[in-house]
Amino acid sequence: MAEGRFITFEGPEGAGKSSQIRLLADWLRSRGVEPLLTREPGGTPMGDRIREALFGAHDHGVTPLTEALLMSASRAQHVQELIRPALAAGRLILCDRFADATLAYQGFGHGMDLALLRELVRIATGGLRPHLTFYLDVPAEVGLQRKYAAHTQGDELNHLDRMDVAFHARVVEGYKQVMAEDPTRWRRIDAQLSFDQVQDSIRAVLERELL
Ligand code: TMP
Repeated sequence: MAEGRFITFEGPEGAGKSSQIRLLADWLRSRGVEPLLTREPGGTPMGDRIREALFGAHDHGVTPLTEALLMSASRAQHVQELIRPALAAGRLILCDRFADATLAYQGFGHGMDLALLRELVRIATGGLRPHLTFYLDVPAEVGLQRKYAAHTQGDELNHLDRMDVAFHARVVEGYKQVMAEDPTRWRRIDAQLSFDQVQDSIRAVLERELL
């Protein structure tokens, strides 16, 4: 069986990744492809427990280092338990955030040492990299505004959502630097366009390059 495809989605808060991934999955199914939807932190029972520890109702005042280690622990479990077997089985995987988020958030956002984080990423992933990564591009303040608007409608805000605009601007800057290091893997989508236009742009890339 042919090796599957591992596609990840990144972007700042409020970029719309999760809703876009859900709709993309419906479209893929209508074309006879059953994608595997997953996310980080999370994606496995252990990963979900880690996610709960990081973002659960109680804010335990997590330090950046603890956060980086927990994200990496979730990733190690995810890669071994879910992603590698799914790739071996030929699946198309759509993953909401992956290792690039550790560099952008813990590295550029919190200011942690990038070399150390790259080493953590290497350990957690065993060197596995996505075949393709979509970057849903919105300015930090636009994304945050969307996030806070959704919060007034009942969506929860986690401790990272609650960081100030300067933190989120560093995250965006971080993504741009990480993208520049490996431009062939990334597909940048203007996420300030309408929801349908964003969806069409993602589909067009997949049709051209994958299906
Ligand atoms: P999301 O499911 O809304 O994207 O939330 C996940 C949060 O976790 C988001 O604020 C980004 C953050 N995150 C990191 O800080 N580092 C990581 O390695 C990952 C995967 C996520």
